[in-house]
Amino acid sequence: MSNKFYITTPIYYVNDVPHIGHAYTTLACDVLARYKRARGCEVFFLTGTDEHGQKVEKAAQLNGETPLELADRVMQRFESLWKKLNISNSDFIRTTQQRHKDGVQKIFSRIEKKGDIYLGTYEDWYCTPCETFWTETQLIDGCCPDCGRATEKLQEESYFFRMSKYQQQLIEHIENNPDFIQPRSRRNEVLGFVREGLRDLSISRTSFSWGIPVPGNEKHVVYVWFDALNNYLTALGYPDDKDGNVAAFWPADVHVIGKDILRFHSVYWPTFLMAAGLPLPKKVFAHGWWTVEGKKMSKSLQNVVEPNMLVDKYGIDPIRYFLLREVPFGLDGDFSHSSLIHRINSDLANDLGNLVSRSTAMVNKYFAGKLPPRGDASEFDAAFTAAFPDKIAEIDRHMDDLAFNKALLSIWELISNANKYIDDTAPWTLAKDESKRSQLGTVMYNLIEAVRIVGLLVAPFMPDTGARIMTTIGADNPDLMLDGHDSFGELQAGITIAKAKPMFPRIEEGQK
Ligand code: MSP
Repeated sequence: MSNKFYITTPIYYVNDVPHIGHAYTTLACDVLARYKRARGCEVFFLTGTDEHGQKVEKAAQLNGETPLELADRVMQRFESLWKKLNISNSDFIRTTQQRHKDGVQKIFSRIEKKGDIYLGTYEDWYCTPCETFWTETQLIDGCCPDCGRATEKLQEESYFFRMSKYQQQLIEHIENNPDFIQPRSRRNEVLGFVREGLRDLSISRTSFSWGIPVPGNEKHVVYVWFDALNNYLTALGYPDDKDGNVAAFWPADVHVIGKDILRFHSVYWPTFLMAAGLPLPKKVFAHGWWTVEGKKMSKSLQNVVEPNMLVDKYGIDPIRYFLLREVPFGLDGDFSHSSLIHRINSDLANDLGNLVSRSTAMVNKYFAGKLPPRGDASEFDAAFTAAFPDKIAEIDRHMDDLAFNKALLSIWELISNANKYIDDTAPWTLAKDESKRSQLGTVMYNLIEAVRIVGLLVAPFMPDTGARIMTTIGADNPDLMLDGHDSFGELQAGITIAKAKPMFPRIEEGQK
């Protein structure tokens, strides 16, 4: 396995303030980025904002500000939310930054020089909310087939990208690389679309000016999706590559996106890359959408879930956990306060919280807070510790598949095994019999080691919780590394085990 890992979120439009859907994509990437770091990879984790285009220009006009003022204001909302959610991104790209604008112009020129961009006239329908062109026949009752909103007829001189030229090459790539588009069902959807035929793509506009000028013809601005998709390269420093990040990290290991923008990432982007002579990303993973209490999230329904509010009410780690545990990554899911409260009480307070507090409390009660050495073993001990390596390998596989909820399920099996181990070995009974002291020591040692390993496994999902567990049990692993630290026997007997304070206070259902 290569030791480098490049993971990206989509770059978010600045005409909207961040909501739970945006937080979801970014959180998923953060969890994987942290997991890969813990596994010893050098990770480049990119997020940012998509600041050009007609949609942003219109939103700014409505607000009576310039597009850049709007972008400056809203990008801070994203940046501060990511801080609040403990997002560990390596960089934050804004498409209005010089490094990006330069890079996009160079890529444009490169493809143009190759003959894959030409000047023509466009006559078609445009959906501004989706920033997408449609032909007359694609419209449904005159409206956008994706979002159902009104479209407008555009007739403009435009630069075109010869996307049609790459149809066959793209089909072959998708067929030969079964993991390229995930989940599987989405791959078939894309293949179907590409097989129907690819038209050349209009990649410039003249009717507004909020964008990157086309090199050599400043009447045109670059189409916002051509502009935006290239962020994955320009953030690495493409094409100059002064810091060597392109050489080190391209092609990306995974672009994580929502299902609504899959076509841009699995058709447009790969064909741009083919034209530029660059390797394609290894994987594009499209996750599902969140509804709220059964309804589509929308400003008009006033049901937009604001992540800052959630964090203030429930805490960072419970939100991080909930979003990745509740719904299989790739499927749609529903957000409700009652399911969130249920998860906090049952999975976090009961299962994980109790394991940590019972284990540390017993070491304090029976061994005055000093970790005893492993001594005599019973039938339960060997079986308990032996189950870990297979489970950990399983968790690794789930993480590689971005099956976050399955990884959490496997971690929770370890947690319930540990809680069961306490019941099976009944330390309170062993404690009454002086001749069983060595056996009691073994149980305590194993439990604290289990808590340590579980703490490391949950840390990518809940970084503060992971760190707190390590501090409580006196484990010296500030970077929460899993690599080289995921087998039993690391903790030295004699270290001080603090008594854990309740990590996840229970929440009453009415307490919203
Ligand atoms: N700017 C483009 C992406 C360009 S990437 C080169 C864009 N931005 S967006 O702000 O509209 O959306 C960003 C991401 O948020 C998308 O992946 C989208 O799927 C996700 N979500 C927006 N609403 C969502 C839900 N209700 N649920 C889950 N994710 C959702 O598209």
